[in-house]
Amino acid sequence: MKFRELGISGLKASVVALGAWAIGGWMWGKTDKQAAIKAIQISIEHGINLIDTAPAYGFGNSEKIVGEAIRGRRDKVILATKLGLVWHIQQGKFFFASNEKGPSDDGELKIYKYLSPKSIRYEIENSLRRLGVETIDLYQTHWQDPTTPIVDSMAELLKLKEEGKIRAIGVCNVTLEQLKEYRKVGIVDADQEKYSMLDREHEADLLPFCQKNKIAFLAYSPLAHGLLTGKISPERKYDEGDQRLSNKRYKPEALNTVKQMLDEFNPISEEHSVSIAQLVIAWTYHQPGCSHVLVGARKPQHAAENALAGDIHLSNAELTIISKIIEKYEGKIPSKK
Ligand SMILES: NC(=O)c1ccc[n+]([C@@H]2O[C@H](COP(=O)([O-])OP(=O)(O)OC[C@H]3O[C@@H](n4cnc5c(N)ncnc54)[C@H](OP(=O)(O)O)[C@@H]3O)[C@@H](O)[C@H]2O)c1
Repeated sequence: MKFRELGISGLKASVVALGAWAIGGWMWGKTDKQAAIKAIQISIEHGINLIDTAPAYGFGNSEKIVGEAIRGRRDKVILATKLGLVWHIQQGKFFFASNEKGPSDDGELKIYKYLSPKSIRYEIENSLRRLGVETIDLYQTHWQDPTTPIVDSMAELLKLKEEGKIRAIGVCNVTLEQLKEYRKVGIVDADQEKYSMLDREHEADLLPFCQKNKIAFLAYSPLAHGLLTGKISPERKYDEGDQRLSNKRYKPEALNTVKQMLDEFNPISEEHSVSIAQLVIAWTYHQPGCSHVLVGARKPQHAAENALAGDIHLSNAELTIISKIIEKYEGKIPSKK
């Protein structure tokens, strides 16, 4: 496993990190707690030390499962969670309604983007309790709240850092302007954004900015929810509430195009004796500015396979070949919605 600095926090995080969204069940059909705990523990055994969760992942469920899985292993883990998607209060900017499976028009939970100092205090205590820890290593604003000035949210986060409740501050889903606003107030060590072979918009803005300013860039959904493993066939069945049921990329024609693209990677994956999923993960963390790849897994065998991708070295020639193949398919694979 390769390790890279998490900004200037002094923390060294594995290039392949474990994402615990699917572990919470919400938007992924359901969750199998015992399998999820095993997936987390196997990730740690395979050298992954960065684990990313959020209160919104199953409305506390993912944090609780992660907390249970790392008990007795806390010293081996850089624990990252988030704040700013709330359902305890209807303030801030309304985001969506949800039932326990996923977003819905009449869901009983109303989710708001809210980052007021008072709400931050409420959220940190709940996350610490659910995770069963005294400190969160990386605390990230999950979505941005247009109703609270960034300066106020960031000032409260800096207080949490001074108090030792968190060790580093991160952001997610920001514009470049918002990231610059945060940095006027204090140090931002990580930015978490959607980035994969199929989602490359941030190559034009946040990736170069993070690289230049020593901010870790954590790529989320690097496998496009599993699509880029090459293992998703049109026959695959999904549980009710699984977001992939309504994702255009999972329709047969798009699956077929993705398969054609992935098949072209075979000579390189065979040369390295790695799976397509592993090659895709490795390509992602070889991209300029992309320091870490947050790969989701809730099954032990997936977790183990993904972790082994943290040790691959791709040459410049191989990276160029892969990137040219991806470019050939640009515009032929639909965007998510
Ligand atoms: N900050 C944000 O707003 C944000 C948004 C999205 C994600 N994230 C973070 O990024 C993490 C990863 O993103 P993601 O979960 O959306 O998607 P992902 O990593 O692109 O895909 C995860 C899913 O792909 C399948 N998969 C993973 N490894 C596999 C393997 N080796 N073989 C076959 N299938 C495999 C699994 O699906 P099955 O379990 O169904 O088999 C898994 O749940 C999240 O868990 C979360 O921590 C953050």
